[in-house]
Amino acid sequence: MAGQGHAIRPLVAGNWKMNGLNASLDEAVSVRDALSGPLAAMNADVMVAPPATLIASFAAAVAGSSLRIGAQDCHAKPSGAHTGDIAAEMLKDAGASAVILGHSERRADHGETSAEVKAKAAAAHRAGLVAIVCIGETQGERAAGATLNVVSRQLKNSLPDGTTAANTVIAYEPVWAIGTGLTPTPSDIEAVHTAIRRDLSESVGEEGAKMRILYGGSVKPDNAAALMAIPNVNGALVGGASLKARDFLAIVRAYEGR
Ligand code: PGA
Repeated sequence: MAGQGHAIRPLVAGNWKMNGLNASLDEAVSVRDALSGPLAAMNADVMVAPPATLIASFAAAVAGSSLRIGAQDCHAKPSGAHTGDIAAEMLKDAGASAVILGHSERRADHGETSAEVKAKAAAAHRAGLVAIVCIGETQGERAAGATLNVVSRQLKNSLPDGTTAANTVIAYEPVWAIGTGLTPTPSDIEAVHTAIRRDLSESVGEEGAKMRILYGGSVKPDNAAALMAIPNVNGALVGGASLKARDFLAIVRAYEGR
């Protein structure tokens, strides 16, 4: 049952990326207010990951509500001479409860390897943050029929010792689906999520059956319900559609009653 994902509490996480300079707190407050109403009883966790500069103010604004605040990256070390970087402990101190790691934009823009993602995930665990570890194939890898191999390798190489269902979430994000309006077919998503579930059981044992596997890449209000109905899809990592409270809440509502 847990292996099918039905017993797993979903997570809907908004990744704001490098957006949110103007009026952004209003959007977060709208989500907070909606969640403190009828959605409070829903069976899902909801998180917004703004740029690092907004974490502390957002965390203060949502204190006492069910909305959680996440970060988008961290350094592997707890402190030191690393100009421009932010330690997981600092994110925790600012009010974050989770951190997105190994997003394909970081793997592409900053050359992050799975080994680095693994070290960052260990840092997140050390600091008491949930690590949201992103994996996914490029268009070329999919065309070459390498999707399952790529995803399996990234997963295996990105998870540190001590990974549990409580401290780690997997996000499957096909690179070609991010920000493009394209999504894989439901059966393609199911095939990848089922393979991830199997790989997780091999690498982290029983914890793998309970771990959340999010789908990310062009999740919108009009496809959220269909995506969340796919076996082993335990939530969503939402980019563009998370910037507007209305759209993000419409996606969150697709998980109501799950
Ligand atoms: P998107 O981004 O929803 O805008 O496709 C998803 C992500 O990058 O996490």
